[in-house]
Amino acid sequence: MRTPVCDQLEIEFPIFAFSHCRDVVAAVSRAGGFGVLGAVAFGAEQLEQELDWIDAHAGGKPYGVDLLVPATYVGSGEGGLAGRDLAAMVPAGHKAFLDDLLSRFGVPPLPADEPMREDAGLLSWSHKGAAPLLDIALARPGVRMVANALGPAPAFMVEAAHEHDVLVAGLVGKRQHAERQRAADVDIVVAQGYEAGGHTGEVTTMVLVPEVVDAVAPTPVLAAGGIASGRQIAAAMALGAQGVWCGSVWLTTEEAETHPVVKEKFLAATSSDTVRSRASTGKPARQLRTPWTEAWDDPSTPAPLDMPLHGMLVAEAQRRIARAAGTDEGARQLVNYFVGQVVGQMNSTRPADQVLLDMVKEFIDAAQRLTDILVGEE
Ligand SMILES: Cc1cc2nc3c(=O)[nH]c(=O)nc-3n(C[C@H](O)[C@H](O)[C@H](O)COP(=O)(O)O)c2cc1C
Repeated sequence: MRTPVCDQLEIEFPIFAFSHCRDVVAAVSRAGGFGVLGAVAFGAEQLEQELDWIDAHAGGKPYGVDLLVPATYVGSGEGGLAGRDLAAMVPAGHKAFLDDLLSRFGVPPLPADEPMREDAGLLSWSHKGAAPLLDIALARPGVRMVANALGPAPAFMVEAAHEHDVLVAGLVGKRQHAERQRAADVDIVVAQGYEAGGHTGEVTTMVLVPEVVDAVAPTPVLAAGGIASGRQIAAAMALGAQGVWCGSVWLTTEEAETHPVVKEKFLAATSSDTVRSRASTGKPARQLRTPWTEAWDDPSTPAPLDMPLHGMLVAEAQRRIARAAGTDEGARQLVNYFVGQVVGQMNSTRPADQVLLDMVKEFIDAAQRLTDILVGEE
């Protein structure tokens, strides 16, 4: 499975594992793949702790950090608006709709000793939020790549990473986005198709990957979206990708800190049970379809707000739902999370390194089958 990107990053398999869970990142890197920690939900102190842990458990192997700075978001001008100013922009009608939804499903309030911060849900998806996280990531010798989604990597990210000899990857959902990434001097383009979990565009992986490969050559391209097995990796390589970038498949691994009720729902779900919806962040993101997405996608209800206001609007509701999902039927129905169409293939819980090695084995079988077709099986 050796491609040039393996030599660039000094890894054995060109299989990239995006995860918010440090255990998955360390396990995949240790097993010869490349773990990438999704850091958007972390503050500086927590990111330091997560990276300390990965450095201690990745066996000296390289890994990456993903920051997510969108090209545009509400308040992105003039150095960014403060959380308090943004919170004041959430319309009262949306709050009333959400209160009503939670009361119809009988979701209990948070206990008085667990108050929410007023900027909860804002995360670090701004230039101001991401800059300190980038500095922390680049100070680690184990970090060999930083990634950005929802727009070209900002110039400060590319410059700082290159000064540290760290590669920059950018996620794209369209050929035009890929051209912008190349103009922004990124080193690796991740072509992520419609079927992916999380924020995603409208072009499928099968169509997007060859388009992007041709548009940015000789920049290496990783295929993402709809890849959770070695057969799918072989298909991605046939489309011209140098490797694959997977997110959903790790959510049901033993190491993943996925909510237990969500994990159960993922294990039971079919490939038809996801929806691309603005229900959770305000930007279209693929997630499990539940009464939560159905309520926001109903044309008679208030339209989801733009990013990051929607995330701020729903942060407390999502915490209330997650807290009660294990015990209360209404919260159990509502609870959901980002996942791609490959959720239909995620039918067992395995350790992350096993998932990686199973993918490699399946890839070898698939490649052998193609060779047999080519030479004509005896
Ligand atoms: C739960 C979840 C959260 C995600 N969050 C991010 C994120 O913060 N930043 C990012 O660049 N990509 C994010 N993604 C997208 C992944 O990086 C990856 O491109 C995608 O999962 C690939 O498709 P797949 O889900 O079919 O494997 C997320 C995906 C999932 C499933």
